[in-house]
Amino acid sequence: MRKLLAANWKENPGSEARARALFHAVAEKLTESHSRSAAEAVICPPDIYLDAIAGEYRKLNRTAKRGLSIGAQDVFWEERGAFTGEVGPAMLQRLGIRYVIVGHSERRRYLHETDAMVNRKITRALRDGLRVILCVGEPAAVRSKGIAAARRFVKNQIKKGLTGVERHGSRFPIGGFAVAYEPIWAIGTGKSDNPKDAAEMARFIRRELPRGWGSRTRILYGGSVDSGNVLDFVEYNEVDGALVGGASLRAGEFGAMVAKVGGRRLLRRQRQ
Ligand code: 13P
Repeated sequence: MRKLLAANWKENPGSEARARALFHAVAEKLTESHSRSAAEAVICPPDIYLDAIAGEYRKLNRTAKRGLSIGAQDVFWEERGAFTGEVGPAMLQRLGIRYVIVGHSERRRYLHETDAMVNRKITRALRDGLRVILCVGEPAAVRSKGIAAARRFVKNQIKKGLTGVERHGSRFPIGGFAVAYEPIWAIGTGKSDNPKDAAEMARFIRRELPRGWGSRTRILYGGSVDSGNVLDFVEYNEVDGALVGGASLRAGEFGAMVAKVGGRRLLRRQRQ
C-alpha cells in the first residue's frame, strides 16, 4: 500500500482566495517533486471551500492529479432532509470528493461527537463508496497512566466506531479505510509521540480491526508531524502515512513531506 499523507486544514485559511492559492501552491510543489507515484496526498479543506478546490483540482493536468485527491473533514450519516448544517456523502461525491475524515478529536471534544455518531458516519460513508479516515487517540490524562491505558482507550474507540460496520456491506477497496492514531496531547503542541510507541500502537490498532480489514487498512500517525520528523514515523512498516494539521498549511512544508516519504519509497524500490 502506498503511504498516504493527508492534509487536515481544519478551520483554515480565512478566505476562499487564500484556500485556492494554498491548493495551487501545494499542487505545484507535488508536481515539482514527482514523488506522487510513491506517496499519495489528500487535501482536506473546510466544506465551504470544497466546491472551489474541487474545481481547481479538475483544472489540473493528468500528471498533476496523479496521487492527489480531495477530502472533507466530516460527513453526515443522512443523505438529505431536516438536518441543519449537515452535508451528506452523495453531496460530497458529486463534487469529486474521495476521502472523509471521521471522528477527529476536535469534533469529539468541541461538538461532543460520540462513538455512536462516529459509527453511523463510517457506516454510511463506506457503504456509499467514500474512503474513510477514522481518528482515534487518547488524552494526556489517559496516557499518563501508561501505554496499556492508552491502548484500552483506543481499542474502545475502534470497537465502538466500527460496531456492525461489516454487516452493512463495507467491501471497501484496499486503502479505502484508514485509522489515524492521533494522541490528543500531541496535536498542535509540537510534542509528537515517540515514533516507536506510535508504530507499536499502529500494530495494536491493526490487530483490533475486524477480521480481514488489517491488510486493506492504512494506519496513519498524526500529532505535530512536519517535514523534520515525518520519516521517523513512516520508516516503520506499521505506519502507512500521516495526518497533518498545522504543517499542511505551508505548501513548502507539506510538499517536502510528500517528497520525502515518496522519495524514500522510490529509493527502497530501486534498491530491491
Ligand atoms: P497538528 O499536525 O497541527 O499537530 O494536527 C494534527 C491533527 O489534528 C491532524 O488531524
